[in-house]
Amino acid sequence: MNNFTYTIPTKIHFGKNRLGKLAELKESGTKVLLVYGGGSIKKSGLYDAAVSVLKENGLEITELSGVEPNPRIESVRKGVSLCKENSIDMVLAIGGGSTIDCAKIVAAGAKYDGDPWDLVLRGSLIKEALPIYSVLTLSATGSEMDCFAVISDLEKNEKWGTGAEALKPKMSIMDPQYTYTVSKKQTSAGTADIMSHTFENYFTNVKGAGLQGHMCEAVLKTCIKYAPIALENPEDYDARANLMWCGSLAINGLLSYGAEVTWCVHPMEHELSAFYDITHGEGLAILTPVWMQYVIEKDPSKIPQIAEYGRNIWDIRQEDDKKAAEEAVRKTADFFFETLNIPSTLREVGITEKNHFEVMAEKAAKGCAGSFMTLEKEDIIEIFNRAF
Ligand code: NZQ
Ligand code: ZN
Repeated sequence: MNNFTYTIPTKIHFGKNRLGKLAELKESGTKVLLVYGGGSIKKSGLYDAAVSVLKENGLEITELSGVEPNPRIESVRKGVSLCKENSIDMVLAIGGGSTIDCAKIVAAGAKYDGDPWDLVLRGSLIKEALPIYSVLTLSATGSEMDCFAVISDLEKNEKWGTGAEALKPKMSIMDPQYTYTVSKKQTSAGTADIMSHTFENYFTNVKGAGLQGHMCEAVLKTCIKYAPIALENPEDYDARANLMWCGSLAINGLLSYGAEVTWCVHPMEHELSAFYDITHGEGLAILTPVWMQYVIEKDPSKIPQIAEYGRNIWDIRQEDDKKAAEEAVRKTADFFFETLNIPSTLREVGITEKNHFEVMAEKAAKGCAGSFMTLEKEDIIEIFNRAF
């Protein structure tokens, strides 16, 4: 196990009817930038409820609305201007990962003199940010409790993740009831995202990180148990609650501290979203089994770990490691494409040509260096082709 410094500072108010905790925003001043997406929070009534708590507590609201899925740098720039023009004290995101990610870079951009795109390209430039608060409405990215934000410039076909301590939210409210209205598509994609974050941490080359591995397995098993229940009955509180808490723990550092590994499926997916604006979790689900199978074929030294995954998660009783690993890949694919009903190929999510695969692979390879199995440009092209 590697050395590590544990720092997960976000205060979480988890459970039913916690919106009154927005009163805590007063600790950071009076002027709040309220950031939200395309309107789901208006439809559900959460917007009205939140605004009334903020007003009761004397908070003055400025709004940034319409944040896109795969949030754009243009929205971030708009938010930064609002902060500067209105002397905003803090940022409150209400929504899914896109809204929270946008709010994070707005908060950092408000404390930065240049263009906020600089902060997306170089996390080390993020020295400070306005206090960040969130109310989560979709279980997926873990942005409510982590140090990352992912922003796109679709004009340049670029989508990059950035990270800094200052981006960790000060407080997040997590009421599983707010996720009752999440569609089947987004519930499935969100589950695939949570599982992918867990896989990225689980398949590490650090030896002896036993606890971290078992915690990963607990998150995976929890997703496998509860996602089908949430799909069947969107208002099953415990199913929604378990998925929500898995989402936070998969990426807040708990699973990776001491077992660090460079992620590789995410950099590949970010290229798919950057060029084709697809749903993040669907891209991950399509790539993951292909990637696992590719690793089995190209680097036999990794087979025992994939076999162990199959035995511990899917109860595979096969003694031969290679056969067990390949069965694990099939089980993973079946779960994503049959149980969760996620499209299984790039074609099915609307990617109908391969013109950009080379340039995408070249960019993704930079992000993958040092991962579980280092992927070169040619490897990634092959993975894209197999996923096509
Ligand atoms: O915009 P609104 O109207 O709110 O609708 C959203 C959006 O259309 C809707 N939605 C959210 N909550 C809902 C709801 N609909 C009904 N009821 C609710 N309660 O769902 C749609 C998707 O929302 P979005 O925020 O885009 O989804 P998600 O949370 O999956 O975020 C995806 C983004 O996060 C990035 C992804 O790359 C992508 O850009 N990621 C962020 C990470 C991080 N910060 O650590 C890590 C991840 O790996 C990921 O890359
Ligand atoms: Zn993700």
